[in-house]
Amino acid sequence: MTDLMTDKHGRTMRKLRVSLLDACNFRCTYCMPASATFSKIHDLLMPDEIGLIVSNLTKLGIEEVRLTGGEPTLRAELVEITERLSELPLKSLGLTTNGLLLKKFLPELKKTNLKSLNISLDSVNRDNFKALARFDGLVEVVDAIDAAIEAGFKVKINTVLMKQNLSELDGLLEFARTRGIEIRFLELMKIGVALETFEETFIPAAQIIHQLRNQHKMKQVAVSVDSTAFKYQLDNGLQVGFIASESMPFCGSCSRLRLDSKGSLRSCLMQENKLNLRGLSFDEYPSVVKQVISLKPYDRIEKLEQPMYQIGG
Ligand code: 5AD
Ligand code: SF4
Repeated sequence: MTDLMTDKHGRTMRKLRVSLLDACNFRCTYCMPASATFSKIHDLLMPDEIGLIVSNLTKLGIEEVRLTGGEPTLRAELVEITERLSELPLKSLGLTTNGLLLKKFLPELKKTNLKSLNISLDSVNRDNFKALARFDGLVEVVDAIDAAIEAGFKVKINTVLMKQNLSELDGLLEFARTRGIEIRFLELMKIGVALETFEETFIPAAQIIHQLRNQHKMKQVAVSVDSTAFKYQLDNGLQVGFIASESMPFCGSCSRLRLDSKGSLRSCLMQENKLNLRGLSFDEYPSVVKQVISLKPYDRIEKLEQPMYQIGG
């Protein structure tokens, strides 16, 4: 089946990001306008539909699934969906979350196959956090991160480092180091509202790496060939990843497909053409999935007007 999942450039699709809804309880300034409008709950894929679509895609070669949003913990059926996906033969099942409501889900999630939690944290300063997320949520997010580590999940911190939080670099590194978890710095991407302030706020990964080299000995750590991140180990033991989607795009080795919350399959975050899988029988999948894969860009598409929360972060 891998033939179907491999495109003409030799990229084999094996990862799937599944957006559970577009709504979020934060309004991060680079992601959403202050007054965003979201899809109606009854338009979203139901847990059984998500289970079926992902199951069909695993039959075609998908091996790793990550749940995203918007904010996936706002989906009342998060645990049910995770339980369904836990029955599939996946090599890994993960969740990307802003952490605000995560803590209450941890005991139930712990009983599933979901092991990996990527938690967004752009600031460890309460006022700056509030300014960036337009929500006073630092205490709850930190509490959820600590509870997730305590419960034995594999936790990574995701930070979009920009002009507004560059002064927090040391504080964020220390936050991760004291907890023994990996932190990954994401470059701001030219998507949605971020386009408006991109030029003034963007910080390239190379600038952060340069700054880190002045303070630490760093050695590069091996990652899988289709990893979106590259990684260093600092002399204090901390592992720091970089997702440099703007300055060092990784399209040439990308192995991802994306399923949005209404059932459309996309080949790339930046590619607006998509095809809907909702209601299709398994026989119809190969040709639809093949068409989607054929739409996958090989060179980085420069920018996307559509906001990221509508597609899945
Ligand atoms: N550039 C980079 N990352 C973004 N996110 C949302 N919008 C952008 C953007 N324009 C990130 C969030 C979160 C992940 C789901 O997507 O910060 O870590
Ligand atoms: Fe919500 Fe994530 Fe967008 Fe922030 S970046 S508003 S947490 S979806």
